[in-house]
Amino acid sequence: MSEKLYLYPVWLRIWHAINALMFLVLLVTGVSLQYSNPDYQLIRFDYAVTYHNIAGIILAFNYLIFLFGNILTGNAVFYKLRRKGLVDKLLKQMNYYISGTFKGEHTPFPVTKKRKFNPLQKVAYLATMYMMIPVMIITGVALLFPEMIIMNVMNLSGIYLTALLHGIVSIFLLIFLVIHLYFSTMGSSPTSNFKSIVNGYHEPH
Ligand code: HEM
Repeated sequence: MSEKLYLYPVWLRIWHAINALMFLVLLVTGVSLQYSNPDYQLIRFDYAVTYHNIAGIILAFNYLIFLFGNILTGNAVFYKLRRKGLVDKLLKQMNYYISGTFKGEHTPFPVTKKRKFNPLQKVAYLATMYMMIPVMIITGVALLFPEMIIMNVMNLSGIYLTALLHGIVSIFLLIFLVIHLYFSTMGSSPTSNFKSIVNGYHEPH
């Protein structure tokens, strides 16, 4: 077996741990708020509001660690997407996930010191971290300070539209998380990637 690669520096692991934890708090409290019912409450409404707000604020500040960490360290390089041949690369990776992996084929884009992510991972992480999370933070802050929101947009309540966008993107984030967890089990062993994001070292296949 080749050598372990140190791919997850301390700041990234701290960001990821806080992000994952706050994400789970937001998910549970968010679901509880969305389906709030005075007869049956998953979490007491006022508690759910408080925990949701606190976790949202922590996640938003923590996002700055991700942004500045990527700007100030070499980690941003792993997120660079080359348009040339992208569709082919995505199809190759998808094909591996759909069939190759079950036939014992080797991964088409093995992890190296220079390539931490496969093309699908890159697209998913870019969309999540640079589109969906910012939309959630912006709409979340707006809902926390609703006086900032335009009251009427084409005869629809601006607050309603902001909450709708916040809710829709949260569903996509939940889908991301399920896929993220599933693909994380596809390392050299089902638990090896989970160990990597804790100890920093990637275990090659
Ligand atoms: C809740 C439990 C979570 C677990 C167990 C988990 C697990 C993992 C694992 C094993 C890795 C390393 C494998 C890889 O490089 O892809 C990873 C990386 C990553 N995760 Fe998660 N994750 C969780 C939540 C999240 C959430 C909620 C997000 C974003 C909304 C997220 C975003 C990322 C990103 C962007 C990376 C790559 C970081 C980098 O190396 O630059 N994760 N995660």
